[in-house]
Amino acid sequence: MARARVWYIHLGMKASAAELFESTYGYAAEWYVFAPGRINLIGEHTDYSEGLVFPMAIQHGITIAAAPNRHHELRLISSLAGEAESIDLLQLRTSWIRPKDWGVYPAAVARTLKFDIGLDVAIVSDLPMAGGVSSSAALEIGFATLFNSLGGNLTPLQLAKRVQQAESELVGVPCGIMDMLASACGVEGSALLVDTRDLSIEPVEIPSRYEIYLADTGKSRELAKSDYGNRATQCADAAKILGSKVLRDVRSEDLANLNDEMLLRRARHVLSENDRVVSFRKALLKGDDSQIGYLLAESHRSLRDDFEVSCDELDMMVESCLKVPGCIGARMTGAGFGGACVAIFRAGGSQNGPMIEQIYSSGVKTFKPSVRQCLPSGGARII
Ligand code: GLA
Repeated sequence: MARARVWYIHLGMKASAAELFESTYGYAAEWYVFAPGRINLIGEHTDYSEGLVFPMAIQHGITIAAAPNRHHELRLISSLAGEAESIDLLQLRTSWIRPKDWGVYPAAVARTLKFDIGLDVAIVSDLPMAGGVSSSAALEIGFATLFNSLGGNLTPLQLAKRVQQAESELVGVPCGIMDMLASACGVEGSALLVDTRDLSIEPVEIPSRYEIYLADTGKSRELAKSDYGNRATQCADAAKILGSKVLRDVRSEDLANLNDEMLLRRARHVLSENDRVVSFRKALLKGDDSQIGYLLAESHRSLRDDFEVSCDELDMMVESCLKVPGCIGARMTGAGFGGACVAIFRAGGSQNGPMIEQIYSSGVKTFKPSVRQCLPSGGARII
């Protein structure tokens, strides 16, 4: 049933991309790629400290339609963001001239992969932009998958690494690898337990007794403009004071040597969150609902109080989800400062209606929530 639903969604997205392509360029596209967004179940703000994460690729994402042109140019149109400036691929090989707006993502990927075949491209998306489900990573992985299919031979994991390099060196966001890796390497039916130190991936099947929801606050945030970079610096500073390069090498007993109160809280979040990822995997496999709920609650509390990346809307959203019958646990997901929550429910029918009602009846007036079920899906692919 779920499979049929996903197939139907993807078919619709492909048709929309084909239509946008044809109405823009006046001929039919030749290639199509789908790259999913992700929802992170637990393991937040740990990846740039070489920690553990537990993301799941979802059925929603970016669909790209493309065909070759004769101009050595990437010409880009998107249903959501309109036309981007054309990117001259020959010039891009020799110098990094940062395109405006969202054109920066495909340009950064093209430069990093040394891609120089001119393409006309149309993009459609059913991901909320800046909503905590990695729309930009999905866009980058979509392009990386397209470029790779036209002459490259990198594995999905290698593509994720190159895209992370593109994002930090060219886009200018010092992000971890979680989002790209989830979009490139997703496994249908499973979430991925990833050790971001050695990049080992364990697909962990999501038991059918659980349903996973994305409860979006609608409050958008821009990663580059947020405090994300500061948090990465603070984690590196805390590790350095304790004689390590990254917090992954720090033991909890060493934290007593950290005199700076703020850095102590940042480090305490990362260390405890890594432990929670390990416990969460066990609880999920055992079907221990109360432990799952406890770990999600602790993760949110730690992100709110120690790491300080939550906000009123996210806290209120978590509270509202927890009041809906069948909710096992909820917490913010993604970078924070806005965006969305992940909520795990016992399976048994659509929660969208009751959740929205509950969220509104808890007095939410300052933002416009939306709720959607997320199905564990496969990674980026040619469709
Ligand atoms: C963003 C980054 C990820 C990760 C999360 C927080 O999504 O792109 O690498 O750091 O924030 O867990």
